Amino acid sequence: MPVKALFKPFNLGGLALPSRVVMAPMTRSFSPGGVPNSKVIEYYRRRAAAGVGLIITEGTTVAHKASNGYPNVPHFYGEAALAGWKKVVDAVHAEGGKIVPQLWHVGSVRRIGTEPDATVPGYGPSEKTKDGQVVVHGMTHQDIQDVIAAFAQAAKDAQRIGMDGVEIHGAHGYLVDQFFWEGSNQRTDEYGGSLANRSRFAIELIQAVRAAVGEGFPIILRFSQWKQQDYTARLVQTPEALGEFLQPLSDAGVDIFHCSTRRFWEPEFEGSPLNLAGWTRKLTGKPTITVGSVGLDGEFLQFMVNTDKVAQPASLENLLERLNNEEFDLVAVGRALLVDPDWAQKVRDGREEDIQAFSREALMTLV
Ligand SMILES: Cc1cc2nc3c(=O)[nH]c(=O)nc-3n(C[C@H](O)[C@H](O)[C@H](O)COP(=O)(O)O)c2cc1C
Repeated sequence: MPVKALFKPFNLGGLALPSRVVMAPMTRSFSPGGVPNSKVIEYYRRRAAAGVGLIITEGTTVAHKASNGYPNVPHFYGEAALAGWKKVVDAVHAEGGKIVPQLWHVGSVRRIGTEPDATVPGYGPSEKTKDGQVVVHGMTHQDIQDVIAAFAQAAKDAQRIGMDGVEIHGAHGYLVDQFFWEGSNQRTDEYGGSLANRSRFAIELIQAVRAAVGEGFPIILRFSQWKQQDYTARLVQTPEALGEFLQPLSDAGVDIFHCSTRRFWEPEFEGSPLNLAGWTRKLTGKPTITVGSVGLDGEFLQFMVNTDKVAQPASLENLLERLNNEEFDLVAVGRALLVDPDWAQKVRDGREEDIQAFSREALMTLV
């Protein structure tokens, strides 16, 4: 199966990508003080230089006191962090690549003691207490407005420093997804209850981002059925329900859906081989990004816990066939690109024997 389908340009309005290979957003925790430094600039530049069409940055936090959940995660606010990101943008553009930041609020996953203000608990759709202490603050209407404003400001800043669009992190059980999912959203107001109500936060957020950046600046929404709190969780059980879930998000201003799965080849619903990105493209008519174990023989969550497992390079045949059939438009690659900046180049040149395996060790350095 020829790999050239992966290296065909992609155009969407003002977004012209040199290839279909997208670098998946991956938290690296190499930005002390929240500022991307010269190592981070070089890390992204290398991937752009070696055939990645679109880089989606690691999750980068919006300007809200509870947005961060982990050490050394880069901010997307404040003069120093934005100046760092501007250097990343310039370096990627100099190599002919495109880049968008993944805008992130971790919500209730945050723990007291986390930077930048150790006294701030998690913020989520619904309050949670433990031993009489509030560990998750249930968000008020004002909190909701504050977070939406922070995303809109981040998107405006992304546009100002030359980013090629933004990705909103609406997946994996973080804040936006906590609103989507009934397992984490027990609200009784207009932001809780039906899936339509649980989507209201995301819809208002996307509308605010669209209003901040205007038409023609791509907005990508990443969403997932699975949650880090429950890998088997599902927001929807049928294609009809998926369509009803996605349409208002599409109408609110999403240009590209990034459909996060752990194994791209798995059918999303019985009775059809289409995966989540395939169904999303079919139902919304919008371009989609697929993701999940591309080029590797083991899925990523196995590698987040202590393990000496190694994911070996795997055939791209199934992926290329689906891409050729236009099941989806773009292909995000995570670990294979984390361990090897030249992965896309090697695939393009047919140098399969040079492609590296992935093990947890790769997380320790920024190559
Ligand atoms: C180290 C690491 C960090 C990650 N951080 C993020 C993140 O910040 N945001 C996000 O949406 N997904 C994150 N993910 C998930 C990846 O974007 C991707 O969906 C996942 O790794 C599956 O792709 P792969 O099988 O090609 O690695 C992370 C994955 C890894 C391995």
